[in-house]
Amino acid sequence: MKKVFKAIQVSANVWWVGATDWNVRNFHGYLTDRGSTYNAFLIIDDKVTLVDTVKAPFADEMLARIASVIEPEKIDYIISNHAEPDHSSALPAVAAAVKPEKIFTSVAGAKTLTAYYGDLGYTAVKTGDSVDLGKGKCAFVDTKMLHWPDSMVTYYDRDKILFSQDAFGMHLAGSFLWADMYNKSILEAEVRKYFANILNLYSEKVIALLDSLPGLGLDISIIAPDHGPLWRQEHNWIIDLYRNCAEQSPRAKALVVYSTMWNSTKYCAESFADGVRSKGVEVELADLNSNDRSNIATKAATAGILACGAPTMNNQVFPAMADTLNYLKGLRFKNKLAFAFGSCGWSGEGAKQIAACFDEMKLEQPLPLKQVKYMPSESDLQEFFDAGAALAEQLLEKIK
Ligand code: FEO
Repeated sequence: MKKVFKAIQVSANVWWVGATDWNVRNFHGYLTDRGSTYNAFLIIDDKVTLVDTVKAPFADEMLARIASVIEPEKIDYIISNHAEPDHSSALPAVAAAVKPEKIFTSVAGAKTLTAYYGDLGYTAVKTGDSVDLGKGKCAFVDTKMLHWPDSMVTYYDRDKILFSQDAFGMHLAGSFLWADMYNKSILEAEVRKYFANILNLYSEKVIALLDSLPGLGLDISIIAPDHGPLWRQEHNWIIDLYRNCAEQSPRAKALVVYSTMWNSTKYCAESFADGVRSKGVEVELADLNSNDRSNIATKAATAGILACGAPTMNNQVFPAMADTLNYLKGLRFKNKLAFAFGSCGWSGEGAKQIAACFDEMKLEQPLPLKQVKYMPSESDLQEFFDAGAALAEQLLEKIK
């Protein structure tokens, strides 16, 4: 049985031939509450060209969409903008079916694709290179470490499309091709989550790339990322949102993250949060029992205060907090006032390890860590309230 799927026209000579993953909810640890798409694009020019592929289980879907426009065997070129398997693991099956004349990828991409799939005959390209498709051409721009060493983008001049791979994308499955057909608040939430979890650690490179865009002289009509909807208008909206995310400017907001065993740390967290709120600063309390690390990262991205509290267990910080801190450390958040706290019975490594992690993250800790034994007293909780209020005042002073 051949699957039946149709391509969707993007522009005069380009078709969307990707796949919609409606039910993916865990993308290597990133909770994708709204599913995702793996976008791939078919350029119908004298040289028929496929830009990116999809995740391997969706190869049949992509080939069926291609077949609704043109016999897949007529594809001459494949361009791989990004070697991560969500965009490349269908490549061996597609290359076997299509037998392309050339597969273009970056220099690092050729190495990475070879490591994953063997030598399928890659042609390495770099910034300044282009390939003539007949009536139009594809120009390549390296975007190394945004977010893999192999990452590059491709500009098709005939239809003025920037195929931007992961950049300007989001995990959002939906019925519509275009971003302007979705609710803006949903787009912003998904972009912020995507940036926080995928790109935050490369914020400086993102800013450098955005700064360099005008100098590339690309007349862009459509931005076509590899995940989520495409941008045919309001390009500045998504570009400005990316810049805003990358700048990591702190907001008047505190995120209080905690783990708890017998509620002691929870009571401390609640009093600290109430102290923050008493100064008119927005606060969000997140128990790691009900918040996964990718959602914590999203919330942390815009918070001016990051407070983390946990008990000590087996002479270590509570495991859920260790996991979350390890993840946040990797994402290299900055510009936050941090506060470490917790509860313990005797040895008390928990809050100390949180504070040490904040040091590694190079986050300022204006207040000393605070830890209670067994159960906080009323005066302990008053001190947590006061700490929250004090840190909130410092934040307001910092961002005014
Ligand atoms: Fe969507 Fe970095 O892969």
